[in-house]
Amino acid sequence: MKERLGVIGVGYVGLVTAACFAQAGHEVVCLDIDERKLERLRAGQAPIHEPGVEEVLAEGREHLTFTSSASELFERAEIAFVCVDTPPSASGDADLSRVEAVIDAIPAGTSDAVLVMKSTVPPGTGARLRRALDERGLNRVGYASNPEFLREGSAISDFRRPDRVVVGAQDPAVGERIAALYRAFGGSELVTDVTSAEMIKHASNAFLATKISFINEIANVCEEVGANVDLVARGMGLDARIGSSFLRPGLGFGGSCFPKDVAALKQLAGNSGYHFQLLSAVIEVNELQKRRAVAKLKRHLGSLRDRRIALWGLAFKPDTDDMREASSVVLAARLVAEGAEVSGYDPVVSGAQAAAVLPRGIQLADSALEAARGADAVVIVTEWPEFVAPFGDGSLRAVMRTPLVIDGRNQLDPGSVRAAGFAYEGVGRGD
Ligand code: UDX
Repeated sequence: MKERLGVIGVGYVGLVTAACFAQAGHEVVCLDIDERKLERLRAGQAPIHEPGVEEVLAEGREHLTFTSSASELFERAEIAFVCVDTPPSASGDADLSRVEAVIDAIPAGTSDAVLVMKSTVPPGTGARLRRALDERGLNRVGYASNPEFLREGSAISDFRRPDRVVVGAQDPAVGERIAALYRAFGGSELVTDVTSAEMIKHASNAFLATKISFINEIANVCEEVGANVDLVARGMGLDARIGSSFLRPGLGFGGSCFPKDVAALKQLAGNSGYHFQLLSAVIEVNELQKRRAVAKLKRHLGSLRDRRIALWGLAFKPDTDDMREASSVVLAARLVAEGAEVSGYDPVVSGAQAAAVLPRGIQLADSALEAARGADAVVIVTEWPEFVAPFGDGSLRAVMRTPLVIDGRNQLDPGSVRAAGFAYEGVGRGD
C-alpha cells in the first residue's frame, strides 16, 4: 500500500529515507529549516556526498516535494519520520531540543498522524514524548521508534537491502503499519515496545564500537609480540560466533554516530547510577588509537619539529565527505602541537569543510601528491582507493623528502611498498 509520508530533517538519514521511499512509489514531503538546502533539492542536487543518492532522488522525483512549513507537512503526510540530529549536550546527554521542537510544531488538532522517530534518542525518550503529545491534546497522533542502521557511504543500499527492520510501538496496529512500509525491501523484521527499540540502536552501535576498540587493542599487542593482526582477525572471524566484519584495526572509529552514541549510552547508564565500565574503556582505547601514528612517526623521524607530515584522507571513512569526529582532526592537532608542518588532502572533503574543523596552519592540497611534496612522511588516515597507486608508480617517491609511510588503515601491501623504496608501518602487522 502506498502511503503519504513526511520526512522531518533532510540530513543524511532524512534524505536517504525520503529518496528511497519516493522511489518505491510513496508520496513524500520533506521538511527542513534550511531554505538553501531545499532549493538545491528541488533542483535535483544532493546537499551531501553519498554514492547513488542523486540517482535515487531523480527516480523518485515525481513523488517528492520540499517545504519549510511544518503545517504543510502535517496537512499532507500521515506518517512523519523524524530525522533531525541529536548532538551531545554540554552534560554529555543527547540534546533533544530539535526533537522537542518537532512535537511543538505539530499543528493543534492533528489526528490520524503517526510520528516515527528515526533520530537516535536515549531509551525512555519515546515514553516522554508520548506524554508530551498527550499533554498537547495530540492523543490521536501515534508514535513509533524506527531506528536507522545506515552507514554513510552505503546508506542507499543499506536502506534498500536492510539486515533488519526494527519498529517499536505501543499500539500493534501502528507497529504493523510502519513495518509494512519496509516489506518490499526485505530483511528480518522485529516489532517491539518503544524503549526496547531505542535500546537496540544504542546496544548495536556500542557493540560494534567495542569490536573496533577490541581489534585495535589486539593490533597493538600484535605489534609488541610480532604477530600479524590481519591474519589474527581473519582467524577469529572464521568462528561464526565472532564473525569477520568490524574487525579492521586502524586509527580508531569516528563519524556522526559511534562516538556520540557510545558516549550517550555510557552517560544514560551513569544518570541512573550504573557505571558502564566496558564503554569507558572502549572510548579511551579509541582516543588513544587516534594518536598512535604520532609515536610511530617519532620512532622513525625523532622530533617532529619542522618535519613535514602529509595526512592523506580527512573524512572519517572513505566514500563520505563527513569529518565529524574524524581521526584526521585529532592527529592534525597533535602534529601541530609537536611542531610539525602539516598538509592534508581528501578526494571529496572541500577546503572550506576541512578548514572549519582542522587546526589553523594546516595546508590543504588539491591532490595527494601535492600534499606529499617535500614531506618526511605520509600518514594514510582514511583508506580512499586512489591512495594505493602512487606508491607503485614512482610518483610519490619522487616528490617526498623522506620516503616514510604510516599506513593507519592497513590499506597497502607492505612488501610492495617496501620494494618501492619506502619505510612502512601499518597497524599491528608485526613489523
Ligand atoms: C555507523 C553504523 O554502522 C550504522 O549502523 C549507524 O546507523 C550509524 O553509525 P557510520 O558512522 O556511517 O555508520 O560508519 P561505519 O561504516 O559503521 O564506520 C564507523 C567508523 O568505524 C569509521 O570511522 C570506520 O573507519 C571505523 N571502523 C569500522 C573501523 O575502524 N574498523 C572496522 O572494522 C569498521
